[in-house]
Amino acid sequence: CGIVGYIGHRDAYPIIIEGLKRLEYRGYDSAGIALFDGETLNISKTKGKVSDLETRVVTEIPKKGTVGIGHTRWATHGVPNDINSHPHKSNSGDLVIIHNGIIENYESLKQELTARGYTFSSDTDTEVLVNLIEDVKQQENVKLGQAVQIALNQVIGAYAIAVFDKNKPEEVVVARLGSPLAIGIGENESEFFIASDASPFLEYTKDAVYLEDEEMAIISQKKGVKVRKIKDDSLVDTYVQKLQLNLEQIEKGGYDHFMLKEIHEQPKAIRDTYRGRLLRNEAIIKMAGVEDNMKKFLNANRFIIVACGTSWHAGLVAEYIFEDLIRVPVEVEYASEFRYRNPVINENDVVIAISQSGETADTLAAIKLAKSKGAFVFGVCNVVGSSIARETHAGAYTHAGPEIGVASTKAFTTQITVLTLMALRLARAKGTISSSDFRTCLLELELIPNKVEQALKSDIHISLIADIYKNSLNCLYLGRGYNFPVALEGALKLKEISYIHAEGYPAAEMKHGPIALIDENMPIVVIATKKGHYEKVVSNIQEIKSRKGKIIAIVSEGDEQVTELADHVIEVPETLEFLTPLLTTIPLQLLSYHIAVLLDKNVDQPRNLAKSVTVE
Ligand code: G6P
Repeated sequence: CGIVGYIGHRDAYPIIIEGLKRLEYRGYDSAGIALFDGETLNISKTKGKVSDLETRVVTEIPKKGTVGIGHTRWATHGVPNDINSHPHKSNSGDLVIIHNGIIENYESLKQELTARGYTFSSDTDTEVLVNLIEDVKQQENVKLGQAVQIALNQVIGAYAIAVFDKNKPEEVVVARLGSPLAIGIGENESEFFIASDASPFLEYTKDAVYLEDEEMAIISQKKGVKVRKIKDDSLVDTYVQKLQLNLEQIEKGGYDHFMLKEIHEQPKAIRDTYRGRLLRNEAIIKMAGVEDNMKKFLNANRFIIVACGTSWHAGLVAEYIFEDLIRVPVEVEYASEFRYRNPVINENDVVIAISQSGETADTLAAIKLAKSKGAFVFGVCNVVGSSIARETHAGAYTHAGPEIGVASTKAFTTQITVLTLMALRLARAKGTISSSDFRTCLLELELIPNKVEQALKSDIHISLIADIYKNSLNCLYLGRGYNFPVALEGALKLKEISYIHAEGYPAAEMKHGPIALIDENMPIVVIATKKGHYEKVVSNIQEIKSRKGKIIAIVSEGDEQVTELADHVIEVPETLEFLTPLLTTIPLQLLSYHIAVLLDKNVDQPRNLAKSVTVE
């Protein structure tokens, strides 16, 4: 979910609506807004997107008021409908709340409140929370801030909340545990912005306070921002950060969709990722987080990579690269499985957590578990200052720039870039790579952005292939070695945005099941670049052909053998085998993009998904 709030001298409505649109990548089942016009607290909310909310507001409430809060939702408790949408009011109608996260013990709290006469109109945990706050406020006769603090101590779960009391219109109370929350400090410290990330307020201010877990803040037009610990109400020093982001970075820049923009940004993003780290003239790789902890890395008995979704796929690519280059065993785990299965882990393990957003709840929990067992935890994140970046002992940012499209693209290739740099750096330190091979790798890695550029030129050719297969019901993706995870990622991209069922498989595993699915209607995307088991993949392609499957092959430039066999080929430039995922991924991203566009799907905000999953 995404939350936005404003308190100051401007009209809150446009700030909140525009802000919600920027946060829509976080969830878009339903949206809502509460505005206080000095007398009345007006609320409008609806199932659907922020644009639906705009339509709804016109007929429901005046767009008046200089205080307000808004929400865009990714449903957890209760189906997406008008009633379950946020904001939620308390029974008295005085308090209003927006909430991102989950209250796990809401059932028992609800029972207690019901016994005390409270009634609930929605199925949400959020409505329970706002009434709990109201109950505490009345029972204990305390101010809003203190009521929030006491109530949150009774709550188990995760949240980022903003609460407003119409009897105290000069302040808004916010709190965070497990879901991000930023406060923008505007002109003369007399206006304040609240948001899940800084994008809603970038055009107004670059000064931001990021709440830490278990912190709350009372934001007051008179007294400014006061941050406190939820647990014991102690005061925390507020640290105001100067943001480096600019608005252009989060706008579409002439592309039809964020996803297409982000696909095309990959040459630059990869270059930004290795800039200052890959120093070819000196034949070295420098990564502060690795240098500072070299001993930990060199003494590690094994590496455990934890991640979710696309980041997990980047982890799989890294498994091949790390084992190949530094000869240390690597395990790649879904963070959600790892955290709940009592894993064997100790202080000789190095855990690498990969996350674009740096906020994924399962990955964060896996990190905490690994830390509690004494492991050294290294983060690979894209969002600077995110929870995972802070929770890990050290890390390396991907520097991909903001990724808005829900289907991850440039985050994936830059994650692989960072992990490749790490593997090369460690291989050099360990002596598992010769200096001449190392130099060759640096040279080749530096050429990747130009080669990605080259691969992007197949865009139109790929859109024609997309047109042929757009109505398929299923699709298989096959690859071997370094390109097996790419096959998984290609299938995930297609599923995510076109809703076509797709599976990725190691090419040789096809014989053990998926081959039964193959007939003349089945498109099969095969990654068949020159380097990497080429002959074996050719045999797999022959097996598909004899079952009349339709073959779309990703091949190296100038390929003849596969080109002869396949129904369609898409060329990518040649490179070293371990770098091929950075190139073979590109046509798969474009293929799913074009299919989704041709099917008229919402590419940037596919149904049921969210960019940042802060619930487990
Ligand atoms: C969600 C997103 C995916 C992403 C995954 C992990 O499912 O839709 O694109 O790969 O979360 O997110 P993270 O931010 O941890 O990489």
